[in-house]
Amino acid sequence: MSEDPVRSGKFGDYGGQYVPEVLMPAVEELADAYERYVLENEDGFVDEFRRHLREFGGRPTPLSHAANLSERYGTEVYLKREDLLHGGAHKLNNALGQVLLAKYMGKERVVAETGAGQHGTATAMACAYLDMPCEIYMGRTDVNRQRPNVFRMRIHDAEVNPVDAGSGTLKEAINETMRDWATNVEDTHYVVGSVVGPHPFPAMVRDFQSVISEELREQSREQLGQLPEAVIACAGGGSNTMGAFSAFIGSAELFGAPTGAHEPAPDVDLLAVEAGGAELGVDADEGYAPNSASLTTGSEGVLHGARTKLLQTDEGQIVESHSVSAGLDYAGVGPELAHLVDEGRVTPVSVGDDAALEAFHCLSREEGIIPALESSHAIAYLEEYEGEGPVVVNVSGRGDKDLDTVIEESAERDLDVAPSMEVFEQ
Ligand SMILES: Cc1ncc(COP(=O)(O)O)c(C=O)c1O
Repeated sequence: MSEDPVRSGKFGDYGGQYVPEVLMPAVEELADAYERYVLENEDGFVDEFRRHLREFGGRPTPLSHAANLSERYGTEVYLKREDLLHGGAHKLNNALGQVLLAKYMGKERVVAETGAGQHGTATAMACAYLDMPCEIYMGRTDVNRQRPNVFRMRIHDAEVNPVDAGSGTLKEAINETMRDWATNVEDTHYVVGSVVGPHPFPAMVRDFQSVISEELREQSREQLGQLPEAVIACAGGGSNTMGAFSAFIGSAELFGAPTGAHEPAPDVDLLAVEAGGAELGVDADEGYAPNSASLTTGSEGVLHGARTKLLQTDEGQIVESHSVSAGLDYAGVGPELAHLVDEGRVTPVSVGDDAALEAFHCLSREEGIIPALESSHAIAYLEEYEGEGPVVVNVSGRGDKDLDTVIEESAERDLDVAPSMEVFEQ
C-alpha cells in the first residue's frame, strides 16, 4: 500500500485492509477506481456526482438558525439540515457516490447492509434513479423496528434480505453483505454505508459526505460572518460525523470545491456524540455493552476489514451493543475518527437513551423539526455544551422512521416532555 495517508487508508494505527484473500482483488480494484474517478475526477466523475447531488438530492441543504433552542441554551444554535436531503438523511450523499462509481466500474449489481434502514433506503433510491439492480441485507431486529424504511426499500424495487444471526442488527447485516460480495466480486459492488470497512471505504465515504462541511463552512461565513465555535454530530460508524467535520480538518477536498473551503480550521471544536445507551462500559462476562460508545469506552481491534476502536471482551470477542437508535447501534467506529480522537482533534462525548428521547421531543416541539433518533443524540448534547457559540448541530436525518419506537419508549419511561397519545383511546 502507498505511504500517502489518503491513498493507503492508514490513519495512524487504524484503518488498513484486513480482508480474506478472496476479497483482496475486489478492494484493490475499488481502491484503484477511487483514486482515478474520485480523487482525480477521471471521465468527469466528480462533476457528475455533484450534479446528481444538486438535481436528485436537492443540495445544498440549508443551515437554519434555531431561534427557540438558542434562547433555551443562551447560545446561538444553528442546524445543518441533512434531514432535508432527498430521502431524509445524509446517507444519500454516499449512496449516490458509490452507485455512480459502481456504474463507472462497469458493475452490474450492488449489495448493501443497513441498520436503521436509512442507508438501505438511500441505496435503493440511488439504484432506482441510476438504473442498477440492488439487494439489501438487514438484521431481523432492525427489520422489525424500522418497518417504514423496509417498505420504502421494497417500493423502490430493492430486494431486502433479513438476517437472523446474532442480535439481528448492523454487525450481522455487514457480515452477510461481505459474504455476498465475496461470492459475487466479478459483477457486484458493495455499497458500504459508513466510514468503516477496509480501505478505500473509510476515505471514500468521507469524501462523498464531505459536501456537508464544505457547504457548512460557506454558509457559516455568509450567515454568521464567521466559522462556528463548534460542530456537533452524532457518531455511529461516523459518516455524518466525518462529513460534518472533514472540511475543518482539511482531510478531504473533491474537485469543484470552493477555494479555501477545506483549509484546516483548528479553532473549530469538533464534538462526536456517541450513543451512551442505558449506561457506559462493557459487561465482558455477558458479552454485552448497554451502549454503542466505541470511541469513549472501546479498545483497539479489527472489525469488518479495519483496525479501529471496538466494544469487545479482553479476548477480542465483539460484544452485542445497544442504543435506542438503530443507526447508532454498532460495536465499532470509523478508523479515521478513532485516530482523530487519539490525536485530540475530535472530542468524543456520549448521550444516553433517555436524553436522546427528550431531545427528540424538544426539537419537535420547539423548532417544528422531527429529528432522527440518531441525530437526537447530537441535539441532546446541547444540554451539556458550555461554550459561548455559535454552535452548529448536524441534523443527520428526519425522524418519521422512528415514530413507533419513540412513542413506545417514551410511554415506558413516562417522559414528561412526551405528548399523551390518549387521543387513540375511547
Ligand atoms: C439519520 C442517521 N444519522 C446517523 C446515522 C449513523 O450513521 P453514521 O455514524 O455513519 O452517520 C444513521 C445510520 O443509519 C442515520 O440513519
